[in-house]
Amino acid sequence: MSQEDDTLTEAREQISDEHFVEVRYDEAIPNNVDLSSDRQLLRALQAWHPNYLEWWKDMGPDGFQDADVYLRTAVGVDPAGWAKFGYVKMPEYRWGILLAPKVEGRAIPCGKHKGEPAWQEVPGEYRSLLKRLIVVQGDTEPASVEQQRYLGKTAPSLYDLRNLFQVNVEEGRHLWAMVYLLVKHFGKDGREEAQALLERRSGQQDNPRILGAFNERTPDWLSFFMFTYFTDRDGKMQLAALAESGFDPLSRSCRFMLTEEAHHLFVGETGVGRTIEATCAAMKQAGITDPYDVQRIRALGVVDLPLLQRKANFHMSVTRDLFGSEISSNAADAFNTGLKGRFNEAQLKDDHQLQDARYTVTRVVDGRLVDEAVPALRAINCRLLDDYIADCQGGIDRWNKAIEKAGIDFRITQPHKGFNRRIGEFAGQRISPAGELLTEAQWAERQGQWLPGDDDLAFIGSLMKPCLQPGRYASWIAPPRMGINQQPLEFEYVRID
Ligand SMILES: [Fe+2]
Ligand SMILES: [Fe+2]
Repeated sequence: MSQEDDTLTEAREQISDEHFVEVRYDEAIPNNVDLSSDRQLLRALQAWHPNYLEWWKDMGPDGFQDADVYLRTAVGVDPAGWAKFGYVKMPEYRWGILLAPKVEGRAIPCGKHKGEPAWQEVPGEYRSLLKRLIVVQGDTEPASVEQQRYLGKTAPSLYDLRNLFQVNVEEGRHLWAMVYLLVKHFGKDGREEAQALLERRSGQQDNPRILGAFNERTPDWLSFFMFTYFTDRDGKMQLAALAESGFDPLSRSCRFMLTEEAHHLFVGETGVGRTIEATCAAMKQAGITDPYDVQRIRALGVVDLPLLQRKANFHMSVTRDLFGSEISSNAADAFNTGLKGRFNEAQLKDDHQLQDARYTVTRVVDGRLVDEAVPALRAINCRLLDDYIADCQGGIDRWNKAIEKAGIDFRITQPHKGFNRRIGEFAGQRISPAGELLTEAQWAERQGQWLPGDDDLAFIGSLMKPCLQPGRYASWIAPPRMGINQQPLEFEYVRID
């Protein structure tokens, strides 16, 4: 039995002894929500916690559960000192409930209640919409852990293995953050939703995760880095929009989650960047300048750049689907009620109510792509997607700079918004990365240039050999610039016995 199980059992046995509970339970669950004095919340979390640990054992990282991992644990929300680094066994990670500090006098930032005091309790008339927003966000957190469950076995270095586990435990903590809101504010059905979050399974036929991209497989490390760059960035956008919520506890939860999300995006950007670096270095050394000389490049044990582009195309397109239909009455409701804002709501220079505003949405009309101004309220999802696409570009520019510096004539680009979409305005259309509408036959003929094929995935799979000696890195990925928390590159980030 792990240390945390012990603590929990003791806490449960001592439930009648208030003082003991206060000390011990606060120890097991770092929190700034005054957990020890909220008996009802404490009971609900005590009932949920063992099921969470069961889920983690069943669906969290396969293997390595007894390994000491050099992890960062959030222990407070003070910007200077919220994180502690040290060796932890993952099942004993101190998942906590941490809200960003309360902003005194905070007002609802958008929608028809704009300017009214932010809600500290669930607004009754919007209860089910609010609960749905929390459940959908909450569902993505354990889903990504499930998707990444087998990656440990093929890690390209201990440094990367540690980063994977850091991302995994933080996604676990994000689940805690949403479960806290459900059990604290939604009574019995909140508790039921909290349990259901542990029961859905990524990719499972009968009881899948709610959103499509979270049912895709993450079979290899290149997929993991693409996922953390592109799909965790959807997480960032959604959290940023929920951080603008008029429901203050949700806003405060999401504001703190965003600080953790930044690390996931870093793992993605540098993971893809280091892959590019290894490719460019190997090409240079072999005297190859043509990025399309694929056979010779692959023989060097690195990923050719056109394949990286196809992988990026896949991950970008499935992630764009996560934003939902570009034109959506649900999204209009979420904004209009003040439950969810836009990205950077506070910085936007408009009336934050959008009753008369319009927004341009690209649609397919009579076999042509047209830009149409629609009521901005109904185009909230489209706007968040556009903001997302803009947000993706920074890292891509940095990747391209590295390729350019190596003297290789190749650029990673973002495909047209309508490429390979299943949800929204472009669902059912065949659109090339350059934005041409295609017939089914044209698509069938050319899609292999744009999306990874079986041989691509088999090649990536062939590179996935574990490289777990301290300081060693697999051929296909360059070492990082810096270690974690100023530790050296050869630091034993995970102790595997
Ligand atoms: Fe997350
Ligand atoms: Fe994340």
